[in-house]
Amino acid sequence: MTTAPLTFDVQLSDHARSAEERERVLASPGFGQHFTDHMISVRWTARDGWHDARLKPYGPLVLDPATAVFHYAQEFFEGLKAYRQGNGSIVTFRPDANAARFNVTARRMAMPELPEETFVRSLELLVQTDRDWVPTTEGHTLYLRPFMIATQAALGVNHPSDEYLYLVIASPAGSYFTGGVKPVHVWLSQDYTRAAPGGTGFAKCGGNYAGAFVAQREAVENGCDQVVWLDAFEHRYVEEMGGMNIFFVYGDRLVTPPLTGTLLPGITRDSILKLAVDLGLEVTERPITTDEWREACESGAMTEAFACGTAAVITPIGRVSGRDGGWTVADGQPGELTLRLREELVGIQYGTRPDPHDWIHKIL
Ligand code: PLP
Ligand code: COI
Repeated sequence: MTTAPLTFDVQLSDHARSAEERERVLASPGFGQHFTDHMISVRWTARDGWHDARLKPYGPLVLDPATAVFHYAQEFFEGLKAYRQGNGSIVTFRPDANAARFNVTARRMAMPELPEETFVRSLELLVQTDRDWVPTTEGHTLYLRPFMIATQAALGVNHPSDEYLYLVIASPAGSYFTGGVKPVHVWLSQDYTRAAPGGTGFAKCGGNYAGAFVAQREAVENGCDQVVWLDAFEHRYVEEMGGMNIFFVYGDRLVTPPLTGTLLPGITRDSILKLAVDLGLEVTERPITTDEWREACESGAMTEAFACGTAAVITPIGRVSGRDGGWTVADGQPGELTLRLREELVGIQYGTRPDPHDWIHKIL
């Protein structure tokens, strides 16, 4: 089995979109609806390990209907962005952190780990090749989606697949939530659970999201934008909001639920914890119940609440509803610290602020 760094075979597309077609897409990219001209593909087999690394034209996969991923969801993914900075550089944000989380998830899913340098190299190669797809519009980005699927065609469940495919696709992205930095109205999910101890909550596997759609639909049916997940036992402790981590602000104190194993360890969450310390704020990772959330809003002690993740960066939470009624967070408008932290983070990503933690990874 080879342990030397993989080199990628490059096959450029002979049907890449024209500059006009690309500009039409980039004028209004939405989120995850359009894809660039190329993709990355690397195979793994029990016999040969990682091999057959390619950059190739974006296109469909042909898979046997018995392929394991279709039946047992042995699959997981990552998500990060490439940013075009004011000086023309193209960069990503903390790709080493995504590489590390990719392998944490791989272990939980009994799937092979990918050398971090291959993960980062695959992103660099795809972004370099499709650099014209990195938007120039302020606030727009190229969303990168590395993922791995089990490709053995077999229905047995006594052992994991012995073949996998690592892929990366890229998608120009406008803002994740339509309406920009608009406060969201959240629904407390008291019937559905996203993750339980010993499960896969800390891993970025597709199955976590498959089980979440019904709760997100319930949120929308109740007039809300997003679901808030609570703990599996008592449905009292706040865990996450949809596909984002959650923060609460008490004046100049920031509180966020601890990483107990049921939450995804967000890279945005980790970055905010560090930025908040830089800004002289006090940060605490501790459990918080829905009762505390309501009481702290009623007493005025809680001044802001927000959610954070790669796709939407930082999103204010304006109102909370659940089976037993609801409440407004402060005046329901985006809070001062929410906006300040967002500006700091986005400023680092776009190169308009210093990068004291060395988070920026230059690609071009
Ligand atoms: N929580 C969940 C369930 C997510 O899907 C995500 C997004 O990837 C996050 C939190 C935020 O993670 P990150 O900041 O690394 O994007
Ligand atoms: C995030 O980046 O915050 C996400 O949750 C991504 C989502 C599309 C899965």
